[in-house]
Amino acid sequence: MDKQTLIHTATTLLAGSKGLLAMDESNGTCNKRFAKIGIPQTEDARRDWRELIATTPNLAKNISGVILYDETIHQKRGDGKTIINTIIDAGIIPGIKVDTGAKALAGFPREKITEGLDGLRERLTEYYKMGARFAKWRAVIAIGEGIPTRACIEANANALSRYAAHCQEAGLVPIVEPEVLMEGTHDLQRCFTVTEDVLRAVFIQLYLQGVMLEGVILKSNMVMPGLRCAHQATVDEVAEATIQCLLQSVPAAVGGIAFLSGGQSGELATAHLNDMHVRYRSKLPWPLTFSFARAIQQPAMSIWHGEEKNKSAAQQSLYHRAKCDDAARRGEYNTAMESTII
Ligand code: 13P
Repeated sequence: MDKQTLIHTATTLLAGSKGLLAMDESNGTCNKRFAKIGIPQTEDARRDWRELIATTPNLAKNISGVILYDETIHQKRGDGKTIINTIIDAGIIPGIKVDTGAKALAGFPREKITEGLDGLRERLTEYYKMGARFAKWRAVIAIGEGIPTRACIEANANALSRYAAHCQEAGLVPIVEPEVLMEGTHDLQRCFTVTEDVLRAVFIQLYLQGVMLEGVILKSNMVMPGLRCAHQATVDEVAEATIQCLLQSVPAAVGGIAFLSGGQSGELATAHLNDMHVRYRSKLPWPLTFSFARAIQQPAMSIWHGEEKNKSAAQQSLYHRAKCDDAARRGEYNTAMESTII
C-alpha cells in the first residue's frame, strides 16, 4: 500500500469547496429513472446521458471526482474518445462503483447484504489501469420494526471493510458508504441511533482489517426523519443531528465525509450541507462535502429528456446544482442563488 499516494488522492478529492458527483447508477436504477420521465432505456441513452455530464463546461470548477459505473468506464463517446479520458482531461478524478449490488440477506428477509468481494482484487487492478483512482461500495440499511438487526449491520460493516482493504492494496481510495435509508415512518432520533450504531460498527471493522483511515472517504446519509414520518425536521434540526452523530462516531483521522442525497431534492440537500458549515464549521475535524447523484442530476435529466436539442440547457442545470453545492460547502449558499442559473 502506498500510503502517501492514497492520502494525496483523498486530499485532492476533498480539497477546497468542491465535491463529488455520483453517476454510478446500475443499469437497472438508471433505466428506472429514465422510464419515469420517458427516456428510452437503452445502452446508447445511458451513454449519451453520461457523456452529457462528462462534457459539462467548467464542471471541474466545483466537482473534484466523478463516480462511474462499469458500463460507463468502458464506453466511448460518439467521437471515439472514452468517457473516462474525457473526465481525466477535464481535470476531474474518475472513480468506480465496485460492489455488485445489495442482495437478500439469507435468514433476514427484510434486509440486504451488499455483494461483490469475489474477484474484486482483479477488477480493482483493471480499473486502476484504466485510470480510476477511487472506488465506491454501498451498503443499505433499512429502518423498520425490529430492523436493522445486528446480523445485517455486522455483515455489511465487515464487507465494507474488506472492500476498503482491497482498494487500498490496489492504490484506490475507498469510499465507504453505509446508507441508512430514508424510507419509513421513523423519527429523527431513530435515524440518529441507527446511523450512530452503523458507523461505530463500520469503524470497528475498518480497524480490524487494518484500513488506513486517512485514505478513506466516508459516504454517509444525513440524519433525517423517515419520508413518511408525521413530523418532518427543520434544516437546523437535520444539521445539528447529523453533525452530532458524526462527531460521536467518526474518528478524526478519516480523510473526509461526503454526503449522499438519498432522495432529498437538490435544494434541500444543498441547504442542509450549507447549514452544517454555517453553524458547525469550527467543530469539524474532517472535510465535509457532497457526493450527490439525484440531488445534482435529477433536474438536468428532466430538462434533457433524451433529446440532443436540450443538452446545453441540461448541462447548465447540472453546473448550477454543482455550483450551489460548492457554495454550501463554504457556508455561502442562499436560496436567491436558485433564481439565477449560472
Ligand atoms: P443519491 O445522492 O441519489 O442518494 O446517490 C448517491 C449515491 O451514490 C448512492 O450510492
